[in-house]
Amino acid sequence: MLRSRIVGTGSAVPKKVVTNHDLEGLVDTTDAWITSRTGISERRIAVNEPCSELASRAGKAALKAADVSPKDLDLIVVGTVTPEMTFPSTACLVQAHLGVRPGATAFDVSAACSGFVYALDVADKFVKAGAHKKALVIGVDQFSRIVDWKDRSTCVLFGDGAGAIVLSAEKGARGVLSCHTHSDGRHWEMLYANGPHQSSHFDHGHHKSPYLRMHGNETFKIAVRTMGSAITEAMEANGLKGEDIDLLIPHQANLRIINAIKDRLKLPDEKLYVNLDRYGNTSAGSIPLALDEAVREGRLKENDTVLFVAFGGGFTWASAVARW
Ligand code: ACO
Repeated sequence: MLRSRIVGTGSAVPKKVVTNHDLEGLVDTTDAWITSRTGISERRIAVNEPCSELASRAGKAALKAADVSPKDLDLIVVGTVTPEMTFPSTACLVQAHLGVRPGATAFDVSAACSGFVYALDVADKFVKAGAHKKALVIGVDQFSRIVDWKDRSTCVLFGDGAGAIVLSAEKGARGVLSCHTHSDGRHWEMLYANGPHQSSHFDHGHHKSPYLRMHGNETFKIAVRTMGSAITEAMEANGLKGEDIDLLIPHQANLRIINAIKDRLKLPDEKLYVNLDRYGNTSAGSIPLALDEAVREGRLKENDTVLFVAFGGGFTWASAVARW
């Protein structure tokens, strides 16, 4: 059976570190509140480094790890909601930056914090269908550009970052085993950002602000419940029990959400990857950035089972299981 196997990972974060203490000077907050309510200590903020550049750095590192030339790629899918331009897509800019062959397929997927797993699902289906042989899948976001730096309830949560994987069409037991993607647009007002590009023809009323707005408390509860059921769905689809999971990489939004999931699955700490203390919530960048760090730390060995689970604005949620 033809599968897409993850043959390389990469990531990129901006140089500028912004600590919780730095934010104390910006909004009415404390390091103690942010750490205890979210688990975040610091985040990276991009300065003069557009989304496509960050994405390209992550992509380049993944290609190097996979020992795949950009000339051999035939598909680029980027999950992002913070492209530097309305169009062209970030994927087309990455294609140009990396020198991927003209004529390849490149496009973006919009699913907020679930963007990477959505992009993986799409790329996996293209590869499995035999249409493409080598794919670069990237998750990248720069929420520092869309948060309201005067709103303490949201600006402390997010950071900028990117992660990437290379998929290769292969026969065998290793590779992506399942992807599940879902959405429920009824709750869009719980978490949204208008962005700067608004048509003057429509009255957006109270939604006029360009910044990210979130009902944190309600989103929190739905995120815990939904990520839990997404994990159950992924495990049942593959006939897996908790002990069969070698590494769970959840979307890094809040340590309390991650711990609730961990307790529900009775997973020991070593089977869970957490790096949000250093990066905050990097939206679509979060899972592939964590995956790349886990791989470079030797946390995954051949034939291990890894599970990704994401939740984000839309609402959207998604899971993927891969045999390493
Ligand atoms: N510093 C100090 N106090 C604060 C801060 C801050 N930065 N932010 C909020 N507070 C205050 C509030 O004003 C409130 O004060 P009050 O009780 O006097 O009114 C109090 O702290 C508690 O606020 P809550 O919103 O109830 O805090 P909560 O414990 O729910 O934590 C948080 C807020 C961290 C946002 C949490 O709700 C959360 O993580 N939500 C889910 C986020 C998420 O998963 N999003 C989905 C992915 S993101 C994406 O897709 C883009």
